[in-house]
Amino acid sequence: MKILVLPGDGIGPEIVAQAKKVLNKLASEGMPIELSEAPLGGAAYDQFGSPYPEFTQKLAREADAILLGAVGGPQYDKLERPLRPERGLLAIRKDLNLFANLRPAILYPELANASTLKPEVVSGLDILIVRELTGDIYFGQPRGIRVNDNGEREGFNTMLYAESEIRRIAHVAFQAAQKRNKKVCSIDKSNVLETTEFWKEIVTDVAKEYPDVELSHMLVDNAAMQLVKAPKQFDVMVTGNIFGDILSDEASMLTGSIGMLPSASLDANNKGLYEPSHGSAPDIAGKDVANPLATILSAAMLLRYTFNEEAAAQRIENAVKKVLADGLRTGDIFEEGTTRVGCSAMGDAVVAAL
Ligand code: IPM
Ligand code: MG
Repeated sequence: MKILVLPGDGIGPEIVAQAKKVLNKLASEGMPIELSEAPLGGAAYDQFGSPYPEFTQKLAREADAILLGAVGGPQYDKLERPLRPERGLLAIRKDLNLFANLRPAILYPELANASTLKPEVVSGLDILIVRELTGDIYFGQPRGIRVNDNGEREGFNTMLYAESEIRRIAHVAFQAAQKRNKKVCSIDKSNVLETTEFWKEIVTDVAKEYPDVELSHMLVDNAAMQLVKAPKQFDVMVTGNIFGDILSDEASMLTGSIGMLPSASLDANNKGLYEPSHGSAPDIAGKDVANPLATILSAAMLLRYTFNEEAAAQRIENAVKKVLADGLRTGDIFEEGTTRVGCSAMGDAVVAAL
C-alpha cells in the first residue's frame, strides 16, 4: 500500500500529521502501509520553483494513493498564474486523470447545533456530490486575457465537455447511488448553456443502464436554493467541475463546519488523491488549532476506495464519532458544554479511540 503524503501549505502539515498518526497505528498492527512524502503547491514552489515539480510528479505516479493536506497562501498571490499553488493542485488532478471527485456532506448528530440552519432542516443529512474534476471551463481552451478588435481588454474561458467525459462521470454517480438511496440529481444550466444541455442529454442516456436508480435534473441556480431550503431531498448530485466546486462548498456548510468533510478524487482504476474539502487556512496555520478530522476521514476514504479496506475505513470513522460523542471539539465546532482541544490532541484522541 504505497501512499504518498503531500502536506502542502498553511495548516496542511499539521492536519496531515494527525492522519499519519492514524495510518501509522494501522501499520503497527500489520497493515502493509508504506508512506513517502513530497511537497505540492507553495511548499513545492519554495523548494523546487514549481507548484507540481518533477520530484513530486514521479512519486505521485508511482503511488497507489495520495493523501493531501491543502495548498495556497497569501505569500504566493503575486506569483504569475502558472506558478501559484492552486495550479499545482489542478496539475496533479489532470496529470493523474483524477476525474471523479466524491464530496460527501454528512451531518454528525453531535454537531447538529453547529450548522447555521435549523436542526430539523439538516438532521440526518447525507448527500454525496459527484463533481467532474478534469474538464469544463477549468481546462477548456482557448482561455486568456486579450485585447479585442475594439482595442478593449477582455477575459475569456471555454466551457467544454466531450461525450466520453460526461459518460464516465455519470457512471460513477449512478454506481455510487446504487450503494446508497438510488437517486441521482444531475445539475445543469441547460436553459442557457449548450455545454450543459449536452451534459443533460448524455446523463439521461447513461441512466438507461441503471433502471434501479431514479434520475432527476435541476438547474444549478435552483439547486443552490434547494440545498439550503430542503437539502435532505438529495442523495447523489452529479455535476460539472465549476458547478460542483460551488455547490460542494455550499453543501459543506449544511454540516456546520467544512473542517469535517473529506473528499476523494479517483481515476478509472480507483487510484486516488484524498484531501479535506477545506483550504489551507493560513490565518490559523502553525497554531495547533485546526480541525484534523476532515483529513483523518480522508484517510478512511483512501482505505475504502483505493484499497477496498472497508473494515479499516469504518474503524476510523467510528473512532471519529467516538471522540465527538466524548465531547472533544476543535475551535471551529466548539460549543458550550464540550471540551476544546487542539489539532494534535484531537489526532491523539482519534488514535486512542481506534
Ligand atoms: C477545490 C478548490 C480548488 C478548485 C482550487 C483551490 C483550485 O476550490 O478543491 O474545490 O477550485 O477545484
Ligand atoms: Mg472549491
